[in-house]
Amino acid sequence: MAKKIKSITGMNDILFDDMMYWHKLERVCHDVFARYGFSEIRTPLLEETGLFQRGIGEGSQVVQKEMYTFEDKGGDSVTLRPEGTASVVRAFVQHAMHAQESIRKLYYMGSMFRYERPQKGRLRQFHQIGAETLGVDSPLADAEVVIMMDRIWQELGLQNYELQINSIGTFDERQQYLQELKKYFEPHLSSLAEDDQKRFDSNTLRLLDSKDEKCIELAKGAPMILDHLTDQSRDEFETFKKMLNDAGVKFVVNPKIVRGLDYYEKTAFEFVSSALGSQSAFAGGGRYNRLVQELGGPEIPAVGFAMGCERVVMLMQDLPKGEQQLSGVFVAAMSETSFLAGRQLLQALRDGGLVAEMGYESKSLKAQMRRANKLGCQFVVILGDDEVQNKTASLKDFSDGSQTEVSQEQLVAEIKKRS
Ligand code: HAM
Repeated sequence: MAKKIKSITGMNDILFDDMMYWHKLERVCHDVFARYGFSEIRTPLLEETGLFQRGIGEGSQVVQKEMYTFEDKGGDSVTLRPEGTASVVRAFVQHAMHAQESIRKLYYMGSMFRYERPQKGRLRQFHQIGAETLGVDSPLADAEVVIMMDRIWQELGLQNYELQINSIGTFDERQQYLQELKKYFEPHLSSLAEDDQKRFDSNTLRLLDSKDEKCIELAKGAPMILDHLTDQSRDEFETFKKMLNDAGVKFVVNPKIVRGLDYYEKTAFEFVSSALGSQSAFAGGGRYNRLVQELGGPEIPAVGFAMGCERVVMLMQDLPKGEQQLSGVFVAAMSETSFLAGRQLLQALRDGGLVAEMGYESKSLKAQMRRANKLGCQFVVILGDDEVQNKTASLKDFSDGSQTEVSQEQLVAEIKKRS
């Protein structure tokens, strides 16, 4: 037998059993984004390497260690996108979107690539859904994005998560703070892990969210950026918090949220869940007021977020079965003779706009019920010889356990009413 070929480490197939979660997640996001005035944008998977070097920052771990960068046949250095924001901003500038409208709200869904050490919830090809508001520098826009995210989790029925927020100040405010932070860590430099010693020079802020015990302990006494904000940044952070409170979005202020990409300033946030283990952040984002300019555009501020779909799907799968939404119809036939009538009824249900399924050969009712359950169907339409004769069907609704006799003519309307 020929040797089997497996998918590349950290790059997974998404199979049918999981697909219903992915579809639901995408559907809810398309819906919610539309309500908040975001339109979809699709950008290429491959970009010029310089986009991410300039956009995400040479000092970030992503650019230093995790990019899939290679030379194409023409000798140009290209990179599989490790995130979506830089590409969206590149497209925004390339198509001069600001010239047509002063505020642009864009969202995207798709694969991202980071050469990280794979573990639970951490992949080399993963998927993000994200959104960006370009053209407004206001805590109201920051809050709008975070509230929208929270509403998405609500529609998905997610539980046990926490929103952590911080303000990491403007670039100018941060320069002064970084001096202080360096002064604080410098005497302990030799006792830090090698990675943290490197961070000291390249990305000092990240010492605050180091995973190394020694550094975590030290970071507890480090000066806090929140104490180094100007009045304006502090006021903006207060407004942001008030907006969240007014919308009933719970949060905690975590001064250690610094984010891994270099483009952030002022508002930074992450949604975390302890159910995910060590890779606990399932979404994150913040304000980035310089990126458009850094990528050759005018001075245009922006804010946005991205969620890690694999991690959100893990949270959806963890929900108790009762919390998961049932949908669709399964047609079950009780006899050989009702089987063919069942296939006809199946066609009528599909033509009526319903998601409906049935087996391809006559099987026991028990086996058919098992399949309906596996598919997560809300309804089973049961058809026996009597029902075929009377042009009726028995409609079982799993959302309330009821079973009613319905005429075949009324079936589509009745199911739609109950869905
Ligand atoms: P990020 O925090 O690097 O931000 O990624 C966002 C989310 O993607 C993370 O919270 C995590 O759930 C998921 N994620 C990241 N890396 C992996 C991985 N290797 N495997 C699985 N999931 C992963 C960004 O990418 C920013 N572009 C977000 C943003 C948009 N900021 C402003 N606008």
